[in-house]
Amino acid sequence: MAILKRLIAIFWAEQPIRAAVYLSVKIVASLIPSAQIVVTRKLVDEAAVLFSGHGNIARVSLYLSVQLLLFVLLSALLGLERYQFARIQVGIKRYFQEKIAGQAVRLPLAVFDSPGYYDKFHQATYAQSKANILNSLFSGIQSVITLVSFLAILADVSPWLSAALLLYIVPSLLVNLRIGKSRFAQMIHQTPLSRKTDYFFHLLTRKEFAKEIRIFNSASFLLNGWRRMFGQTASEQLDLEKRATLKVLGVDSFGVLLQHGLIALLLYFGWLGRLTVGAYVALAQTVVSSQALIQKLAMDLATVYESTYYVSEMMAFIDGEPESKGTVAAVRFPDPIRRGIKVSGVEFAYPNRPVKVLKDISLEIRPGEKVAIVGENGAGKSTLAKCLLGLYKPDKGAIEIDGIPIEHIDTEDFRSHVSALFQDFVRYELTAAENIALADAASRMEEIRSAAKRAGVLDLIEQMPQQFDTQLGTMFGEGRELSYGQWQRIALARTFFRKSRIIVLDEPTASMDPVTEQAIMRTLHELMKDQTAIVITHRLSLCPLMDNIFVLKEGRLVESGTHDALIRLDGEYAKMYRLQRESLKGVYSEVI
Ligand SMILES: Nc1ncnc2c1ncn2[C@@H]1O[C@H](COP(=O)(O)OP(=O)(O)OP(=O)(O)O)[C@@H](O)[C@H]1O
Ligand SMILES: [Mg+2]
Repeated sequence: MAILKRLIAIFWAEQPIRAAVYLSVKIVASLIPSAQIVVTRKLVDEAAVLFSGHGNIARVSLYLSVQLLLFVLLSALLGLERYQFARIQVGIKRYFQEKIAGQAVRLPLAVFDSPGYYDKFHQATYAQSKANILNSLFSGIQSVITLVSFLAILADVSPWLSAALLLYIVPSLLVNLRIGKSRFAQMIHQTPLSRKTDYFFHLLTRKEFAKEIRIFNSASFLLNGWRRMFGQTASEQLDLEKRATLKVLGVDSFGVLLQHGLIALLLYFGWLGRLTVGAYVALAQTVVSSQALIQKLAMDLATVYESTYYVSEMMAFIDGEPESKGTVAAVRFPDPIRRGIKVSGVEFAYPNRPVKVLKDISLEIRPGEKVAIVGENGAGKSTLAKCLLGLYKPDKGAIEIDGIPIEHIDTEDFRSHVSALFQDFVRYELTAAENIALADAASRMEEIRSAAKRAGVLDLIEQMPQQFDTQLGTMFGEGRELSYGQWQRIALARTFFRKSRIIVLDEPTASMDPVTEQAIMRTLHELMKDQTAIVITHRLSLCPLMDNIFVLKEGRLVESGTHDALIRLDGEYAKMYRLQRESLKGVYSEVI
């Protein structure tokens, strides 16, 4: 009920005038069928007199015209109602899509690490298609009004007629409501499997997977998997539909029997002389129409009942706990940073796995420093970076900037002062300028050029046919595809474009050629003059350029210091550094 109230409030608030027109039309339209029956009765009675040779042509014509008028009015009202509702539906769809997308971007990042999120998201988007619940609700109300007027017409002849019809309403409603409930339960139960089915379909149809699918010859594996899962959900659904159809058929047959019983009763009343021919025709029509109306009403109400479950899932998603916006008295980002970043005793485990990924990490980074984080795969480097960016909240310990815990800083202000190039950066299928500046693409051309230049991608963009307006990627018309390293440079330009105080670069040069890599890393101090930079890298040859190096191993900070100091220490870092240098030498000696 609360869901229906909320939906109606949304419906009303979105388009009040349209909603009022729609409802008035529905109410007027709901009364027309009984008016039609009254007119039919008069018309048939007049026609009977006319056929016996004593009739009044003028009166017959009048009733005929009124009947025509009612038909025209009904079609006009239905047309108006359909159009109004189409517009209302667009409004409601926009409302919910906006809410769902809005909620998805507000959720804490950690939520995305749990399959529960994807289930909820799947259910919420699926429920959207059920948001025409209002249509069914109002149609149901319309049917109830028409039905009440029909029952009144029948009760006028004999209350038993109306009572008998009511006998059909109860089982019809119960059966349909139960079916609605089972469908919903099935949807919830099938969510993980149907999500996996969608995922397989996604793998089979998207460009990013096309190469591997061909080379690894995995198409039939994936297609068979998809077929099996699709078959399973479909057969469960069809099974349910079969049972539902049988039940509906049962109550409907009962309805038809009842209907014919009532018509027989009407014939009996006519035989007794209690009904005119016109009254008989009109009442028989009422009985037939009532039965159809009850069927429709039961289906509408079942849809409403079923849809409220879906919509409540969607509402639960929309209302879910968003990312916290910092504490109440949120502090501003210390700009410029004076003392630096301090990490003390940080521990972190991903919500979906109980193992600690970061263990008791403490380190300090002074303002303007360019530091490196190094370590083997899975050491926790990217995780630490995401904690520093405030995307994950440590389970223990603190991260402070100038002594302010980062979660006390206003989220928006914090984010406008940090920037990052992620290991799995995004390739936006947008123009080059939009890739770098997103919303500011139209207004800050000079800054976009300068960011592109710093990321070593200006020449490339200027050589493209429409330069900064060139569409990148292949998804949309005339798009220009780039190499992965070129995409990485574009992403780097996006990182530079932000006037941030802290920059995190996670493997910024992993796909770049050595010349570009050297050009960027050697000028790091110049490129990021007033910025604090944290660079995660496996290329230890770049480390001598950095002010400080942190070595992570299995989630612990095992060494830190300058390149020279760490080499002198002759520990983990020195070992890795020597290994890399020697492997390079090995290659050189072979070439020579
Ligand atoms: N979203 C996640 N959910 C659960 N565990 C995760 C998640 N992301 C990473 N991990 C785990 O956390 C550990 C650290 O991962 P992280 O990505 O921080 O490593 P990394 O040092 O950046 O490695 P690489 O050099 O391969 O990029 C790994 O053991 C990984 O399995
Ligand atoms: Mg990483």
